[in-house]
Amino acid sequence: MSVNTANRKFSSNLVVLHGSPHRDSHTEKLTYDHLAQYTDGTAIFHFDLFHTPIYPCIDCKYCQTHDGCPIDDPFESIVGKLDEADTIILSTPVYYMGFPAPVKAFIDRTQQLFARRILFKREEIANNKQGVLICTCGSGDLSAIEALRAPSEMFFSVFGAKLTEMVYLAGTDLPQNRRSFNRINFLEKEMSK
Ligand SMILES: Cc1cc2nc3c(=O)[nH]c(=O)nc-3n(C[C@H](O)[C@H](O)[C@H](O)COP(=O)(O)O)c2cc1C
Repeated sequence: MSVNTANRKFSSNLVVLHGSPHRDSHTEKLTYDHLAQYTDGTAIFHFDLFHTPIYPCIDCKYCQTHDGCPIDDPFESIVGKLDEADTIILSTPVYYMGFPAPVKAFIDRTQQLFARRILFKREEIANNKQGVLICTCGSGDLSAIEALRAPSEMFFSVFGAKLTEMVYLAGTDLPQNRRSFNRINFLEKEMSK
């Protein structure tokens, strides 16, 4: 899976949310391969969600009437970085046709941002960011990959980011010759219409 470095990308501020519990895992390798496309000037921040104690949303409704969230954990500091980013990469394996629990917990906690930025419009929302979904699944069934697309789009939307690219490796539990890799650039697809 070598990358074409002839057309290197630039992002002044890129944040990666890592959702695999393993180092040097399929998802992590795919992600580092992808990151190799960015120019040296790109500032890259990594957050390892499996090793960051983020509590799940308890739907206490506080965020319907207030800014912020009563739960005190590192969530806010990660959000600060995501708000500053121009590219957000969500890097995750598929677990039961969805996200691993720590990734889902993080995504659910962005409900407070959904409430104040989209539902009640108490805060301006950016609209110039790119969202990249990098994912792997054990089976060769691409519906597992597709299952992450809509929730990822919704997650990116609370940061004013569009899903511009999806990179996946399906069949990681299968022999090499039954795996499928693909990189879908939605911006290029849109422009070629
Ligand atoms: C709890 C759990 C649930 C999983 N659910 C699915 C699934 O629904 N579909 C699938 O194709 N693979 C599933 N897998 C396989 C992983 O998606 C696959 O092994 C993935 O490549 C692991 O990524 P990593 O090596 O980067 O951690 C599951 C694995 C685990 C541990």
